[in-house]
Amino acid sequence: MRRRIEDMVVVITGASSGIGRSLVERLSARGAKLVIAARRMKRLEAINAELGGKHVCVRTDVSEPEECGRLIREAVEKFGRIDTLVCNAGYGLIRPMTETSGEDILRLMRTNLIGTTECSRAAVPEMLAQQPRGGWKGQIVVVSSAAARRGLPDFGAYTATKAAQLSVAEAMRVELRGTGIAITTVHPVTTATEFFRAAIRLSGVRPPQRRGIEGFQSSETVAAAIVRSIEQPRPEVWPHHRYRLLMALTAFAPRVVDLILAERRRRRSRRANDSPVAPYLPQDAMTGEACSANAVPPTVSPLS
Ligand SMILES: NC(=O)c1ccc[n+]([C@@H]2O[C@H](COP(=O)([O-])OP(=O)(O)OC[C@H]3O[C@@H](n4cnc5c(N)ncnc54)[C@H](OP(=O)(O)O)[C@@H]3O)[C@@H](O)[C@H]2O)c1
Repeated sequence: MRRRIEDMVVVITGASSGIGRSLVERLSARGAKLVIAARRMKRLEAINAELGGKHVCVRTDVSEPEECGRLIREAVEKFGRIDTLVCNAGYGLIRPMTETSGEDILRLMRTNLIGTTECSRAAVPEMLAQQPRGGWKGQIVVVSSAAARRGLPDFGAYTATKAAQLSVAEAMRVELRGTGIAITTVHPVTTATEFFRAAIRLSGVRPPQRRGIEGFQSSETVAAAIVRSIEQPRPEVWPHHRYRLLMALTAFAPRVVDLILAERRRRRSRRANDSPVAPYLPQDAMTGEACSANAVPPTVSPLS
């Protein structure tokens, strides 16, 4: 059965840019009632104003469990129910594993993983208590990554958070089977958003000199795939179908995938070393210090 997007209540974290923002625009155009969350409140309010001011903005840092709980409470207080929660907030770090501290990993996990589990933990009791609509009591969409199924060089800590998100979502999907709550994971490949600019700035590495941060797919493509999965819940969404097949290779031939990734890393590092360091002044990066000219060059992968 197809769910009607019109009047559906959808809570979206990480709604201030990229995939989250594109999703807000698409769902708003289809008549959904949205609760949009992120830390940059001015951004949220500007997006809401562009869409006619009909949605609810909630300043939320998902790395703080009490803020996740508050977000869900405010959504239920405002609209009486939550049809879909989209756990999309997240960021990346570009750093070889041997240079990644435990604190780096904990910080990433707090936002990417615990932000997902805390929002879900607060939303599930509300969904269980509500009447089904379009055949479902509710749905949780977890924006993971294609890299959830394969760790990537220089993104090891980040890809670990994406694998962990997938793992908890798979567990929840079986635990909640038969309750009327659907769990969907989303697996984008490199997408043109602020993600890499923020990660580059936060990591203090040089930006790639040619291709890389432009992205292999648009945030609109990912958002369109998410909207389809909200209408008709399914376990996994792979907006770039070819990469889903590539992931099968990681299960059957990990040595081959190691070689491909190592060669790609070697070529990117050489290219970055050959190029002059370009001044890099991102306007919208989340946080972080100025880029260091001496830092290791990033080897941006298509699977982030
Ligand atoms: N871009 C890619 O290539 C790619 C590929 C695969 C998966 N993904 C995943 O897609 C999701 C969205 O990323 P994007 O590509 O759209 O990147 P983006 O443009 O950088 O957006 C990230 C969003 O997350 C929010 N965010 C970050 N930390 C937060 C926190 N502690 N609390 C609340 N919100 C937080 C940011 O808002 P504020 O800064 O305003 O809080 C922003 O709205 C992420 O989970 C990412 O891992 C991205």
